[in-house]
Amino acid sequence: MKKNIIAANWKMHKSIKEAVEYAKEFKAIYEEKDLEVVICSPYLQLDTLVKAFEGTNIKVGAQSVHFAKEGAYTGEISVPMLKEVGVSYCIVGHSERRKYFGLTDYDINLNLKSLFEDSSITPILCVGENLLEREDEIQEKIIANQLESDLDGIDEKYIERLVIAYEPVWAIGTGRSATPEEIEIMCQYIREVIANLYGDEVSDKVRIQYGGSVKPDNIYSIMGMNGVDGALVGGASLEAKTFNELISNAVK
Ligand code: PGA
Repeated sequence: MKKNIIAANWKMHKSIKEAVEYAKEFKAIYEEKDLEVVICSPYLQLDTLVKAFEGTNIKVGAQSVHFAKEGAYTGEISVPMLKEVGVSYCIVGHSERRKYFGLTDYDINLNLKSLFEDSSITPILCVGENLLEREDEIQEKIIANQLESDLDGIDEKYIERLVIAYEPVWAIGTGRSATPEEIEIMCQYIREVIANLYGDEVSDKVRIQYGGSVKPDNIYSIMGMNGVDGALVGGASLEAKTFNELISNAVK
């Protein structure tokens, strides 16, 4: 049975000290629920968080990874390095990495292959259209292109553990979430694209999240839509109390 998954994306926030305080506060208030909870922090805080959440069902994830195992890639982190720390998830292809760091679908494809082939770390693959593409009503074409390139040549056996986050760029950090109906339409479309690539059985197993201005007060209606298996949460994950409230509302 697949479990819904709510993941925090801290982006470039929190010192190690602040991460320790957050973990302490979050562990004290979080009551285990029938869903997976993941916290994706900057690299420096991963080791601290993995240790802090040991013995709980709260998982830790990275926000990016390089595709090579090692080499002359100044400033990068590899899959074996993440494995050694003990992270369970890794965000791949976030729109901020695509936009500010020139990450291409080709890179994302190599990242996914490296995660799947060299580790049991679960990728959270982000896809999403920008505002102009939404206004031009070509969002489905954009998402299909991203998925087809990102997953090119990836063996079917890996896909059932893939998590896909539909994150329309215009909804990220803007306070303007997509409507539950827009989210449902796109999540169902994404499942169709995966079914075309890998068949219905595999596609049904893939978990599809929504991300973009998810808050404690809109999570319930988002989670209620067909085919939505979770959320990727930026701003509203930065306070332990707010994130805990959001998770509670997700399972209400
Ligand atoms: P947001 O970010 O919740 O702050 O909109 C989501 C994300 O970028 O993953």
